[in-house]
Amino acid sequence: MSLRFAVVGPGKVGSALAKLLAGAGYAFLGCAGRSLESARRACELVGSGRATTDAAGLTRGAELVFITTPDDVIAQVCRELAGRGAFRTGATVAHCCGALPSTILEPARACGARLGSIHPLQSFATVEQAVELISGSFCCVEGEPEAVEVLRAVAGALGARVVNIPTESKPLYHAAAVMASNFLVALENAAVKLGEAAGIGRREALESLLPLIRGTVSNMEKVGIPQCLTGPISRGDVETTRRHLEAIRQRAPALLSLYSVLALEAVEVGLAKGTLSSARAAELRALLGS
Ligand SMILES: NC(=O)c1ccc[n+]([C@@H]2O[C@H](COP(=O)([O-])OP(=O)(O)OC[C@H]3O[C@@H](n4cnc5c(N)ncnc54)[C@H](OP(=O)(O)O)[C@@H]3O)[C@@H](O)[C@H]2O)c1
Repeated sequence: MSLRFAVVGPGKVGSALAKLLAGAGYAFLGCAGRSLESARRACELVGSGRATTDAAGLTRGAELVFITTPDDVIAQVCRELAGRGAFRTGATVAHCCGALPSTILEPARACGARLGSIHPLQSFATVEQAVELISGSFCCVEGEPEAVEVLRAVAGALGARVVNIPTESKPLYHAAAVMASNFLVALENAAVKLGEAAGIGRREALESLLPLIRGTVSNMEKVGIPQCLTGPISRGDVETTRRHLEAIRQRAPALLSLYSVLALEAVEVGLAKGTLSSARAAELRALLGS
């Protein structure tokens, strides 16, 4: 049976979900947006469906509703729809936010709906990118068991793999995603600053680091953590680390604490890899001020 689904919030994720699920045989009812224009754009992308600003009129007929508005208004949109009796009994109502739990959709339960969330673990700058990248990514799914079952099937139809977590773990799960993606950017920004302090131009610094970053990610894929760790800490090279600290203290002191915190984490990885002895690890920890 092809589930009838509706999207409220026809932005990057909502439009991509509509396109991919309609392509996978789900029955697309349409999109509701703040403006008719964005809803129309989404329906044009899919090649079917009704574009509207009347979300309640659309979701009443749906067995699966995605609320893909900005995070800050998901709960409010859901409350307003529930207040207008816009969810069918037994319908699955889901949002796609990484940090918020499915329980923010609580008002929909009064209509007899089942609550869930499905978060694509990927970063999308455009709708086209979202359509291309969702397949092959992971989706984190949580919620009530019936909703989880529906959303696991949705992930499968999107070509994504599923990570299941308990509802209460959403903020921690999202913190992991932010660390892996956004903080990688922050980390490389810090590395570029060190390159600049060493006399390399900003652009050249990033360009020269990119092959190293790719090589590291590729090693991580091939041999995993801790085996992919290389460098002075994995070798227990205390003197090199001391020289790094001294140079950063003199030329880029604002980055000293970041370097030390990450170096302490690298000590853990080096120990797990087995190339760093516990004696050298103790020396490094003392040097790094733990
Ligand atoms: N982008 C990502 O990388 C990414 C990745 C994973 C998960 N997510 C999650 O996906 C969800 C959507 O994010 P997005 O990046 O797709 O956002 P987006 O591109 O900014 O789209 C949000 C859409 O919501 C609509 N909207 C805003 N307020 C509304 C309201 N009150 N009623 C109906 N529609 C409303 C907007 O309509 P107008 O166009 O008319 O203003 C817009 O089309 C969020 O929960 C986000 O956390 C995003």
